[in-house]
Amino acid sequence: MAPVIRPIEPRDLPEIQAELETHWHSTQIWSLGRMHQADALPGFVAEVNGAFAGLVTLNMDPGGWQCEVITLSSRMPAGGVGAALLAAAERHARAAGCRRIFLTTTNDNTHAMRFYQRQGWCFCTLHKGIVDRVRTVITDLPLLGFHGIQVRDEIEFERWLADSAN
Ligand SMILES: CC(C)(COP(=O)(O)OP(=O)(O)OC[C@H]1O[C@@H](n2cnc3c(N)ncnc32)[C@H](O)[C@@H]1OP(=O)(O)O)[C@@H](O)C(=O)NCCC(=O)NCCS
Repeated sequence: MAPVIRPIEPRDLPEIQAELETHWHSTQIWSLGRMHQADALPGFVAEVNGAFAGLVTLNMDPGGWQCEVITLSSRMPAGGVGAALLAAAERHARAAGCRRIFLTTTNDNTHAMRFYQRQGWCFCTLHKGIVDRVRTVITDLPLLGFHGIQVRDEIEFERWLADSAN
């Protein structure tokens, strides 16, 4: 069944906190050296048969020319939830007048790197060692990630919204 995508509502807070804890072990998400309180961000929820099936959270840059996807997660692997949430984020950014939407994932997350490229997003920047630098301050960031890979870097992906070729 195709997921239903809707904006986050206040009643979603317990599911959102559980989702963030499941995937990031915290509601505080680090990206590009900045901490985001992700359970307070706007975004979209996916529902399948009325049940919570996934979440995307977003941060609009001041001035609104670009938008960052802070988290994206799905409770239904390979069911179209991730793609539908990412498409909703892109539509939202475009409607808000953003020229660019971007996100980072960590160097261990090979599944996400494949997923974003399959969705038409492009690598743009390697932020080498940025997680190691944040870890000197936030000492409880996990050292090992997926596949036992040491988490060191953020890989930035982007999509230019004004350019249909990208
Ligand atoms: C990355 C993530 C969000 C993808 O979510 P997802 O719901 O599995 O994504 P989708 O179902 O939309 O797409 C995944 C694959 O399933 C396929 N798929 C979608 N619907 C399908 C269906 N009905 N039948 C079979 N395959 C299907 C898609 O085509 C895609 O395959 P492809 O990569 O070969 O193109 C998910 O794996 C996740 O939550 N990961 C953990 C959190 C994370 O790491 N997030 C990213 C870091 S910010």
